[in-house]
Amino acid sequence: MFSSVVLAIAVLSILVYWIITSLTTPSSEEHLVSMLPGRLPFIGHAWKMDMSKPHIILAKWAQMFGSIYRIQLYNDEILVLNDYKSIYEALVVNGTSVSGRPPMYRTSQDGRNRHSIVWQTYNDKLAFLRKEVLKSLKMYGQGLQQLESKCMEEIQELLKKFKLVENTPANPWPIIYESVCSIMLNLVLGSAKSDNSNSILNKVKDMNAMFNDTFGSGNSRKMDFLPWMRNVWCSEQQRLKKALILRDEIWNNDIKPLMRFSSDSVIHRLLMFSEHHSTNDLNVSEDTAKEVFTNLILAGTDTTSTALTCLLLLFLHYPDVQERMYEEISSVVDIDRPPRLSDRSALPYCEAVLLELLRYISHVPLSVPHYTMQETTINDKKVPADLTVYINLWALHHDENIWEDPWAFNPDRFIDEKGRLLGPGHQKRRRLMVFGAGRRVCLGETLAKNRLFLFATSLVQKLTFSVIDRKKLPSRDPRTFEMGLVLHPKPFQLILNSRNNVHM
Ligand code: HEM
Repeated sequence: MFSSVVLAIAVLSILVYWIITSLTTPSSEEHLVSMLPGRLPFIGHAWKMDMSKPHIILAKWAQMFGSIYRIQLYNDEILVLNDYKSIYEALVVNGTSVSGRPPMYRTSQDGRNRHSIVWQTYNDKLAFLRKEVLKSLKMYGQGLQQLESKCMEEIQELLKKFKLVENTPANPWPIIYESVCSIMLNLVLGSAKSDNSNSILNKVKDMNAMFNDTFGSGNSRKMDFLPWMRNVWCSEQQRLKKALILRDEIWNNDIKPLMRFSSDSVIHRLLMFSEHHSTNDLNVSEDTAKEVFTNLILAGTDTTSTALTCLLLLFLHYPDVQERMYEEISSVVDIDRPPRLSDRSALPYCEAVLLELLRYISHVPLSVPHYTMQETTINDKKVPADLTVYINLWALHHDENIWEDPWAFNPDRFIDEKGRLLGPGHQKRRRLMVFGAGRRVCLGETLAKNRLFLFATSLVQKLTFSVIDRKKLPSRDPRTFEMGLVLHPKPFQLILNSRNNVHM
């Protein structure tokens, strides 16, 4: 009897608390961005959140309640920005205030948030690391030429590998992944060459899969929100541990020994800095070099190889896009020479296909979470310091107010009436923020765009890609893709053939 009364009082109190918090806005909150209704005690909005596809539900809530709002997921309060105006204000206008990264259990493991570029909050050390990496990725003059020649070599290898599976069903993902990863290793390691690059590639692929499962904004966030769950049963926790072990193994056995022969690489420079700099106030250590290596390899490989794989999937759904690209390439580039970066301006349709690819799939849908480092304002509302901010690029890139028929894959939306590519200052181009913007903008933006162009145009110049069985072809719609840190389509196979008149 007594226990039923206690239970009834407890339930009643929770109900009253819920009604009060749902229906009233405390006066201290009046100037804040509004909290979504339906918040329950302790768990907040987690009960109605599909954690396997958070970007989709957050975009749906934006349509229902307005494009900027707060939610609560367990103990964590999050500001969610879903439209261009608020995202631009947060990343560019108030970029200094919103350039942090939130403290998270997952990123604190092994002190990653003190050494990493991706997961470290904005501070002097991060600014230093970003500058060092940008110096090493020189995307102009000679640096650009070197990138072009590295890509050309790798594309030739890729074409040979594709040739081996000509006319037989093939899954393009692992083949593309290896090529893109190989370029990344080459860029990051400088002139050092490894004798067992195949084994490194395979280990990186495994590590990538584990980090993708454990570092997204989806299901794996429960590790941050529910501390007790980590120790009970949490497969993501096991995978995270394994990923960190594999990362150490790759570093200790494969990468660090090579660094003695690689004075031209950013990782070598960081190691030298950590050993010899007498005033190392920034605490740059071997762990920093290891983390920067991991960041660059993973961020530089998964994103680009997923984009290329999605492009091939789209070719299977829209064969006319592939043909239009081919016609444009063959009208500009001699049949016996591969497309070059200097051809970019003469290939507006190819460029438009790549822009539309990045908009349509938006494969880093929630960007990387940001964090307010001081109080600021967004949309004239007060935003306190120490708040996690989700930048919903997915909602921005499928916003019907900007993009007509956003779920159609239509490269022509980036072409003007005279057949020219919309200029970078055009409203639509400015609203395409695939790489973020401001202080934390992607460090590989120029590299990614150049590499995508070279790969996509070279593949179309030499090969055709076709469907094996349309009934078994997975959907092209990115709403069906699997969410990790990067969205991935379901695996698929295709048939590829050499174009008759071309030598490979
Ligand atoms: C299609 C390809 C790519 C896409 C869509 C992409 C997208 C992004 C996005 C959305 C962010 C988060 C920005 C933010 O926090 O606001 C980011 C960060 C980052 N990207 Fe990329 N990226 C791509 C390729 C690359 C490449 C090739 C590299 C290799 C250098 C790279 C390295 C990084 C790094 C190091 C960061 C962290 C920057 C920081 O936290 O300060 N990305 N990228």
